[in-house]
This record gives sequence, structure tokens and C-alpha cells, in this order.
Amino acid sequence: MKILIISSTIRSGRKSHQVALEVAKQLNAREGFTAKVIDVAETDLDNLKYLYKLDPSPSEIKSNIYDLFENCDGYIFVSPEYNGSYCGALKNTVDHYPKSCYHRKPIGVVAVSAGAMGGMRAALQMQLLVLALMAYPMPKMLLTPKVGDKFEDGRLMDNSFSGTIESYLDDFTWFASKLKS
Ligand SMILES: Cc1cc2nc3c(=O)[nH]c(=O)nc-3n(C[C@H](O)[C@H](O)[C@H](O)COP(=O)(O)O)c2cc1C
Repeated sequence: MKILIISSTIRSGRKSHQVALEVAKQLNAREGFTAKVIDVAETDLDNLKYLYKLDPSPSEIKSNIYDLFENCDGYIFVSPEYNGSYCGALKNTVDHYPKSCYHRKPIGVVAVSAGAMGGMRAALQMQLLVLALMAYPMPKMLLTPKVGDKFEDGRLMDNSFSGTIESYLDDFTWFASKLKS
């Protein structure tokens, strides 16, 4: 199954991108799953002015992101918690593309925070976003508390959190496979 991991903050110095890369690494190690990270910082989407497929459609919207979105089997949204919610760049990206990109697909959410709560408010609000996309939210959420303590030079140093990701992916792969069948 082809799963897109949307790494959604464009902030310089961002830490949540490390979590997105780690989730992708662990998912790619599982048989039957291919994870690709879509880095919103590199997608070059402006604030929403045009919807894909409605005229005029500037070329950056037509970029191969659309094909990847349309043809994937599911998503994992990764977002930092900013002011009690997920980051605006995630919503902006998702809003550019039609419902057909999301309809009936499994979507897992991953929240990242510098604090102790792990981005719970962002995660819950991403679950609501998934419902609005006519997709299916995976019930288990991955929360990342104190992200600043977990990585060194991009490497995950926290074994316990590595196990938490593994357990999250156990559920996600089960959920995605059941939905597909
Ligand atoms: C604008 C802004 C708002 C933030 N709001 C929250 C918040 O509401 N709750 C929280 O736990 N952390 C908050 N943080 C801290 C982030 O959790 C922290 O930056 C963390 O490293 C994950 O985000 P990053 O990928 O941008 O690094 C905020 C950070 C920024 C830049």
C-alpha cells in the first residue's frame, strides 16, 4: 500500500519533520507498505487562491503532488501543535486538492510538541479534519511530547518513543489493510 506522510510545517528549525522521517522509516520497513514523505516546505504552494483542476490552475498546483495524492492508499498527517491546533500549512495543502484525493482513505494523525502534552489538541483537531475530507481517521493517535529531547543530529535517541511509533504503526497498518480489503 502506498502511504503519503504529510510533513506539514515550513518553519525553519522545525522539529516535527524529524518525527515524519522516523515514522516513514519505520513504515517502509514493513512488508506491503511504501511510505513517501511529502514535505510541505518543498511543495511551493501559495496560500489557497485556486483549486486544482479549476481554471486558472498555476503549475505549482499541477505538480506531481496531485498524482501522488490521487493514487495513494492512505495518509499520515504529521503536524506540530501551534497555538492549540495543527499548523496552517497542513490545512492549506489539503485544501488545494479535491475530495477524491481523500475519499474513503485511511488517515492517521501524528502531533508533535515541545511540551508534555504531546500535541493532543492538534491531534484531535486533525481527526476532525479527516472526517471533513470524507476519509477515515485511525482511532489511535501518535503524540510526541518533548520532541526537543528525542533526536540528536536527526537520529531518534529515545527507545521508548521508537516503541510507541511501532505500536502506532501496528494499528495503522492493520486499519489501512482492513479498509482496503
Ligand atoms: C507559533 C507557535 C505556536 C506554538 N504553540 C504551541 C502549543 O499550543 N502547544 C504546544 O505544546 N507547543 C506549541 N508550540 C511549540 C511547538 O510544539 C514546538 O515548536 C515543537 O518543536 C514542534 O514544532 P516544530 O516542528 O515547529 O518544531 C508552538 C510553537 C510555535 C512556533
